[in-house]
Amino acid sequence: MNDLNNKVAFVTGGSKGIGYGVAAALSAKGVRVGITSRHLDEAEKAAREITANGKAEVIGLEADVRDFDSQKSAIGKVVEKWGQLDVLVANAGVGHFGSIEELTPEQWQQTIDTNLTGVFYSLKASVPYLKKTGGYIFTISSLAGTNFFAGGSAYNASKFGVTGFTQAAMLDLRNYDIKVTTIMPGSVATHFNDHTPSDEDAWKIQIEDIGELVVDLLKMNQRALPSKIEIRPTKPPQK
Ligand SMILES: NC(=O)c1ccc[n+]([C@@H]2O[C@H](COP(=O)([O-])OP(=O)(O)OC[C@H]3O[C@@H](n4cnc5c(N)ncnc54)[C@H](OP(=O)(O)O)[C@@H]3O)[C@@H](O)[C@H]2O)c1
Repeated sequence: MNDLNNKVAFVTGGSKGIGYGVAAALSAKGVRVGITSRHLDEAEKAAREITANGKAEVIGLEADVRDFDSQKSAIGKVVEKWGQLDVLVANAGVGHFGSIEELTPEQWQQTIDTNLTGVFYSLKASVPYLKKTGGYIFTISSLAGTNFFAGGSAYNASKFGVTGFTQAAMLDLRNYDIKVTTIMPGSVATHFNDHTPSDEDAWKIQIEDIGELVVDLLKMNQRALPSKIEIRPTKPPQK
């Protein structure tokens, strides 16, 4: 996908954080983008900001990744507007952390439904369109999708799941010339888990770094497929 101009992307959870950074990087290269959030006003506000600073239009849509019909409808609107789909970024995610004794069944369910089932729904709803364009799918897993830690049981389960799911999907979909990559970041400066990004996050990966990574991968020669990428801060604080 050497020329990104006028391509079409769909980014789940693009109202803030990594999804916002990826949508901004894509728009700056001329890619038209649909971004989603559970809140229409936030998706539309982010879309306006990115469009104003980018090169191609971004639209905001309300969609919950936990609801397959909602995903199908949002992706359908993007294809109806621009006639095609070239890139999916299955990014939306939440984090609930705590020991087994602290973690509630509702927190477990929300984590698995959003981070794992939501990724399946996003791929399932977009593959019919991506088969037509020979498109590219990114899932946003995490280093927590390969390294487990105390208090991480729900998040680890969801992200180990995403890592495994994406690798299997990659083997299925490359037969249609669809590339599939899972990106596994360490700490990124975002609003994740009710965090407010500040100057103290300067050591972390920034959202534009993930955006740049996605653009670089899209431009890679069609014959080469980095299927799983770990990315971490170069210099985390000393423990
Ligand atoms: N930040 C990190 O250090 C880090 C590291 C590794 C991996 N990740 C992963 O990166 C992804 C993005 O997280 P982030 O750090 O950018 O967090 P963030 O700043 O909190 O952004 C999360 C985005 O997902 C959306 N979202 C949440 N639940 C949703 C749902 N059910 N349906 C649709 N959209 C939903 C949010 O919008 P609404 O709340 O308005 O719906 C928001 O746009 C997640 O999968 C996360 O696990 C993050």
